[in-house]
Amino acid sequence: MSHQAELAFAKKLTKQAGDIMLQYFCADTIDTTWKKDDSPLTIADTTINQLVIDSVREAYPDYGVIGEEKSYETTRKHLWVVDPIDGTIPYSLGIPTSTFCLALVESGVVQLSVVYDPFQKRLYSAVRGQGAFLNGTPIKASKKTDFVHSYVIANETYVSGKKDLRPVSHALRSKGAKLLYISSFTYMTILVATGEVMVAFMAGGSPWDAAAVSLIAQEAGGKATDLNGKPRKYNEWGDGLLITNGVVHDEVVEMIADANPGR
Ligand code: IPD
Ligand code: CA
Ligand code: CA
Repeated sequence: MSHQAELAFAKKLTKQAGDIMLQYFCADTIDTTWKKDDSPLTIADTTINQLVIDSVREAYPDYGVIGEEKSYETTRKHLWVVDPIDGTIPYSLGIPTSTFCLALVESGVVQLSVVYDPFQKRLYSAVRGQGAFLNGTPIKASKKTDFVHSYVIANETYVSGKKDLRPVSHALRSKGAKLLYISSFTYMTILVATGEVMVAFMAGGSPWDAAAVSLIAQEAGGKATDLNGKPRKYNEWGDGLLITNGVVHDEVVEMIADANPGR
């Protein structure tokens, strides 16, 4: 089976990254600084990002890294795309709802990915064409078509200069959906892959928020595109992200278009 060596490499990194997250979680020494984009940063974010760069340099000298905190050789064909901690805000507040996200991207297409929640020891993984797994057990997106009693992750519904997702949230709520937002997009959105969440969207377009969770959701039978319903490239920024169980994808794309004429 292809990509097994890379998958083993990624899984080893989840364990190391998870250990770092747990080491600094609630530590008295945890210090939060603020980045230029107004988001917080801890020593755990930078340590994990550096660990990934060092490990890639050693194991895959021809590959590059796109990391939220640090990157190198970002124009290479093969890239490891990493969000060292998705959910730095809850992490720094001692709320255990954050994940480590890592994807292998080839010419913009995700080939394999892992998402790890070290608090509940939940390791989600997928290799393109080989299904999606939670701790080794296959997972599947739901086939639900009706929004009543469905969960929708409405993340950053308004970012200046991006599509406005607030009307979409309202429309989905009026159809019976329950809207949730915990400050880690991936922690919640990965639940599309287990069938518990029906729809998740974000206005922002960073590759590290999008790459890992997208492949896992797709391999579980869901769909991941930009907010226009078009395939995304995961080695660059895109026009937001929409992940659904697949069944309701076109309906939500239409709602987004209706709410954003000419955009
Ligand atoms: C952020 C979280 C947050 C979402 C932001 C992300 P970070 O990632 O996922 O929930 O609203 O769009 O940037 O900064 O914790 O890695
Ligand atoms: Ca993130
Ligand atoms: Ca992050």
